[in-house]
Amino acid sequence: MKSGKTSVHSFAERIRGLVQSDIRRMTRECERLGGINLGQGICDQPVPDLLKESAIAAVRGDLSIYSKFEGIDALRQRIAEKMAEYNGIRCHPDREVVVTVGSTGGFVAACLALVDAGEEVIVFSPFYGYHVNILRLCQAALKFVTIHPPDWRFDPKELERAFSDRTRAVIINTPSNPCGKVFSREELDFIASLCQRHDALAITDEIYEYILYDGHRHVSIGSLPGMEDRTVTLSGFSKTYNMTGWRLGYAVGAAALMEKIGLLNDLLYICAPTPLQHAVVTAFDLAPSYYERLRADYARKLAVTCEACEEIGMRPFRPQGAYYLLVDVSGLGLSSDLDAANFLLTRAGVASVPGSSFHASPLDGKQQVRLCFAKQDAHLEEACRRLRRLAASPR
Ligand SMILES: Cc1ncc(COP(=O)(O)O)c(C=O)c1O
Repeated sequence: MKSGKTSVHSFAERIRGLVQSDIRRMTRECERLGGINLGQGICDQPVPDLLKESAIAAVRGDLSIYSKFEGIDALRQRIAEKMAEYNGIRCHPDREVVVTVGSTGGFVAACLALVDAGEEVIVFSPFYGYHVNILRLCQAALKFVTIHPPDWRFDPKELERAFSDRTRAVIINTPSNPCGKVFSREELDFIASLCQRHDALAITDEIYEYILYDGHRHVSIGSLPGMEDRTVTLSGFSKTYNMTGWRLGYAVGAAALMEKIGLLNDLLYICAPTPLQHAVVTAFDLAPSYYERLRADYARKLAVTCEACEEIGMRPFRPQGAYYLLVDVSGLGLSSDLDAANFLLTRAGVASVPGSSFHASPLDGKQQVRLCFAKQDAHLEEACRRLRRLAASPR
């Protein structure tokens, strides 16, 4: 308890040290300069027509009131079917699925429901900033384990040392943002064995599960033997169907965990947007060719972006999945990631994100920037043209 009354302009202890991410700062700067934004992870591609039509029908049909806090029955049913087919996870649609406000809403509800202040949570670095900041909001004690470029492997010994009987959870993000790592079955088996040995949970963010390159396959740790009762799997519609603003995701896990995650979902949000829940039921009617084309489109965009980077002396670390590219910028001859990001924005009109913001040790990202290539072809090609022009210009 604090002694005395706090002044109106002081803030809760739990947000101490939290700051707006570099991503938003770069976006604002990019807008000011009229640049092309390859910084923020926003996909500017259209929502499939089927889903747009379903959303219009749901709004016209006045499907506008709160749903059950865990989401509408039809959607949970289709999510459970997809989890069995694609993720190899059997779950009960009524007790083991909660529709959330984006996968982020699911992550917030899971962390608040499961992680107490001071409990240890293992996070791989480079990391997705929201994971770390939300865990900080929960006052978790973070332990970082490095995944190393260029092939983004972790040292099993380092991970083993990070686990202890104080470990409450490990956070997995596969395919990952920012480095595009796709955790292999062997790696997940190893992590699963540590979770079981130390009685820890796995909270896994699989929002990019359909975006994979070079024959990499998506494996869900929740499908591995012994992980059924200790895994919360998060995914959603934002990335696969280009609808980051619709704010629809879901959490899947054992009934005992989901009961409390559902309770938190209710307290925080009441429910996910109802008409849009009705609309995304039809996402599960899309043919397999939709997902094949998604992968092929991103593979082409990745190739174009890598080529432009290489032409100006930047070295991309090839991702295995997701739609980001971490790039080694030491070839630009600048002293930091910040200078490199400013250089790319002011001289080429292309926004990126300084790499140090993704690493537990900022020095690890001192010569990296992140580019997001989930852009319409015309925008991406223009961004690449602008980058290539740098080859001819003096530093
Ligand atoms: C790893 C990761 N998880 C979650 C999200 C956000 O997902 P949602 O829109 O479902 O909240 C993002 C968005 O960039 C992301 O990169």
